[in-house]
Amino acid sequence: MIYLKTPEEIELMRKACELTSRTLGEMAKWVKPGVTTHKIDSVAKEFILDNGGRPACLGYGGFPGAVCIEVNETVVHGFPSTYSLREGDIVGLDVVVELNGFNGDMCYTFPVGETDERVMALMKATKESLYKGIEACKEGARIGDIANAVQTYVERRGYSVVREMCGHGIGRKMHEDPEVPNYGRRGTGPLIKNGMCIAIEPMVNLGSRNIVIEEDGWTCRTRDRKPSAHYEHTVAVLGGETRILTTFDYVKEVLGDKFV
Ligand code: MF3
Ligand code: CO
Repeated sequence: MIYLKTPEEIELMRKACELTSRTLGEMAKWVKPGVTTHKIDSVAKEFILDNGGRPACLGYGGFPGAVCIEVNETVVHGFPSTYSLREGDIVGLDVVVELNGFNGDMCYTFPVGETDERVMALMKATKESLYKGIEACKEGARIGDIANAVQTYVERRGYSVVREMCGHGIGRKMHEDPEVPNYGRRGTGPLIKNGMCIAIEPMVNLGSRNIVIEEDGWTCRTRDRKPSAHYEHTVAVLGGETRILTTFDYVKEVLGDKFV
């Protein structure tokens, strides 16, 4: 069941997404060699709570962190841990914040110091594919149009798309209908309507698309252990227009010239 939102509800979504975006900016300041992923998680948790929000991942289905932390071959749902980031790593920070009953969901994959050129290119293409997906998200189009836009963009560049995990509707719950896959055919899937709020989140691998879920039941990594990148925005369709409710502007402030 897809819950379409009123303009008032979308305004509340926007506020939740604003806090989510600011949280990501706070975490960005800590992405550097020697910092543990646990430290980044606690920075986020504290910032969210200080600002009246709730870290929605914490305790969700038993998830142990406030943020999902995705180092190198981790695709999604990595646990914060005692691992210290190393020069050359990449790390995806995926955060969901609930504020006033609504959720914002976003993710950004960062290089830690200087990272391999091929991995930089993977991250750039993945981020671009997110915007291709958003461009295809229009009132009257279908979810498959988003999926196809993402898939076509990344596969043309020789990367592969993870199929087992996808984006999703979002609102009072972090995960609502519809599912938003990153692969599929144009003109298929649910119709995109006014009031729809969805999280679009391409997960793109340098090697094969195959994944493995670790024994903890959560951590999803590439089977070939090659790196994977992940970017996510929450978007809303309102008055016939698609608005990106989350923003990477706070990340950009931190990264400066390194924001590509
Ligand atoms: N953006 C992630 C997702 O949609 C957030 C998951 S939070 C978790 O799957 F608690 F489920 F890990
Ligand atoms: Co999500």
